[in-house]
Amino acid sequence: MFKEKKYVRDAKKIPKGFDTTNHFFEYLFNNKDMIWMGQNTNHLHKEDDIHSAMVESLKERQYSKYPPSEGFSELKDLILKDLNIDNQDILISSGGTDSLYLAMNVILQPKHTVITCDPGYLIIDNFASRFSNKIIQVPIYNKECGYKLTPKLLKENMDENTKVVVLIDPLNPLGSAYTKEEIKEFAEIAIANDIYLIHDVTYKDFAHEHYSVANYAPNNTITIYSFSKIFGMAGLRIGAMISSFEIIAAVKAIIINDLGTNIISQSGAIAALKSKDKWLDIIVNTTRNNQKLIKAMIDEIDDIFIINYPSEANMISIDIEKTGIDSDELAEYLLDKNIFARSGNYTSKHFGNKYLRVSFSIPEEEVKIFIQEFPKAISKLRKQ
Ligand SMILES: Cc1ncc(COP(=O)(O)O)c(C=O)c1O
Repeated sequence: MFKEKKYVRDAKKIPKGFDTTNHFFEYLFNNKDMIWMGQNTNHLHKEDDIHSAMVESLKERQYSKYPPSEGFSELKDLILKDLNIDNQDILISSGGTDSLYLAMNVILQPKHTVITCDPGYLIIDNFASRFSNKIIQVPIYNKECGYKLTPKLLKENMDENTKVVVLIDPLNPLGSAYTKEEIKEFAEIAIANDIYLIHDVTYKDFAHEHYSVANYAPNNTITIYSFSKIFGMAGLRIGAMISSFEIIAAVKAIIINDLGTNIISQSGAIAALKSKDKWLDIIVNTTRNNQKLIKAMIDEIDDIFIINYPSEANMISIDIEKTGIDSDELAEYLLDKNIFARSGNYTSKHFGNKYLRVSFSIPEEEVKIFIQEFPKAISKLRKQ
């Protein structure tokens, strides 16, 4: 008889009124009026160089050929340059997600311990649990640790089998980022204890400062790179993993997509990196301004606050615990108003009911609709 394997719970909670999560996402996708604040995606790019490069690739019908299996050299070089990382190898993948899975697969054995944080991006924990029997989700929902897994917390939670530590920088969902000193300290701990740091830099370009741990512990780091957020290319499913030549060689032996990553996505990604100077400031400034507008609205409402303001990413989490409102209920209420935001339960096992996560790399007009609707939602649902 078929017996399903059990892994760390991921985020696939089915919202009320839907049979499956797939039905839910299809409903969202088909609703053209939906304001998309639920996936930290970026809706601010216009018909720019990225768009033109992909149209060109389509016109030339490049898609009739297979791409080189590990990615185009031009794209690989551009990503390494963007990260300011020398002397490491890189593999292009179908999104950071693919790379996260491969990273866990290549390093972990059942006896190993993996350290992540809660709140965090739970699919990573789920992937880790497919290869290792012990996942420690360190609670970080408090000011004392700066809402992030710190080197001190890592030392307190490590055991002799710890092999992987996940650093999401800035963190989804709280937007906390690491300082240079913290990054150096993580590097020292990793080298001294033969640990791999998985540095997920998906949101790095929204932050004021960013430091690659790969520059301090090159043999102990796997960097995870995504084109889904700052580049606005989530639906194109493209990302990368960067690590030592030894690790990437081992990953090449276990990849699933042996025939390479989508050729149109790669042409868009090359154009995205080449044109980054043209659009980066516009996107970052719009996003930061949107965050300020939301903050001003939140400050007017009793009993709620933004956790870790300002966020260094394109999302914030709003603490609603004192209102007595259930975060799933709040997300459902907003969905009825065509606003897609995320219950905290999507990114936390222990604190999920305390907060709602909203992303704001969307046009200001849409943020203004959220600003009108959110206070009404709180008044209507408030229990305390
Ligand atoms: C921390 C983190 N890593 C990776 C991903 C997924 O990236 P991709 O779309 O490149 O697979 C997300 C998506 O939200 C994320 O928040």
